Amino acid sequence: MACGGCAAAVPSGTEEYAKLYPEKSSDNVLRLGNVVPDFTADTTMGPIKWHEWIDGCWAILFSHPADFTPVCTTEIGRMSLKYQYLADKGVKVAALSCNELGEHQAWLDDVVAHCENKITVDFPIIADPTREIAVAYGMIDPELKDAEGLPLTCRSVFIVGPDKKLKLSLNYPASVGRNMDEIVRVVDALLLSAEKSVATPANWPNNHADQGMKGWVFLLPTVTKEDATAYFPEHKTCQVPSGKEYLRLTPVESAAVVPEASAAAE
Ligand code: BEZ
Repeated sequence: MACGGCAAAVPSGTEEYAKLYPEKSSDNVLRLGNVVPDFTADTTMGPIKWHEWIDGCWAILFSHPADFTPVCTTEIGRMSLKYQYLADKGVKVAALSCNELGEHQAWLDDVVAHCENKITVDFPIIADPTREIAVAYGMIDPELKDAEGLPLTCRSVFIVGPDKKLKLSLNYPASVGRNMDEIVRVVDALLLSAEKSVATPANWPNNHADQGMKGWVFLLPTVTKEDATAYFPEHKTCQVPSGKEYLRLTPVESAAVVPEASAAAE
């Protein structure tokens, strides 16, 4: 049953959509494909100029509601355990909350102690007490307030590409801690699709095991039949009732790049 509440005009052509979804958001709503807002801030590792700091790398910016809170303490600890894996792939990491720098620094001792002093926090924690960055990125959860009644940040994850454009975002409420394995998984998937003409199935790399194709990836729909044969000689096409040949799987190890086959569907 239609809700009848969606009165917005729907654009009809690609040019109209391009105006609605420009590289730079004009309505302060950060969307995939937008250049992420630049900022300068203090961090636990010194001042940061965000765009300069990204410096042609992939970068993760993740926010948490507040210092000296239990879920956040475990999240910084768990991210610290993933940091080296991400750094080895050239991915930079920064965290943010609306606390002052001094609070971040004192809290990190607790974070390390809670991980039995087995970690070091090797990424910067950004101080955003004025909430300028939080507002620019749309991280604020209006239902979550500090002792003064000011809103706090939810648990956001922004993954930014070397072109400074937003490639992926996640938003969790304060009550749900994030799974750092999932963040690493999506980074791996993004890097793979940035390099090769493939897309990752649901639950990748734990997919298609029952068909003997564990971790295999899909050829992009834009890869032609001729290019599929030429560039992905090991690929297999799954048979489906429609008879359409779009479920084309290839071992991830032999995933190739096809010139002209971008991830954008034509
Ligand atoms: C926490 O990190 O534990 C938390 C922070 C704000 C609200 C609820 C939980």
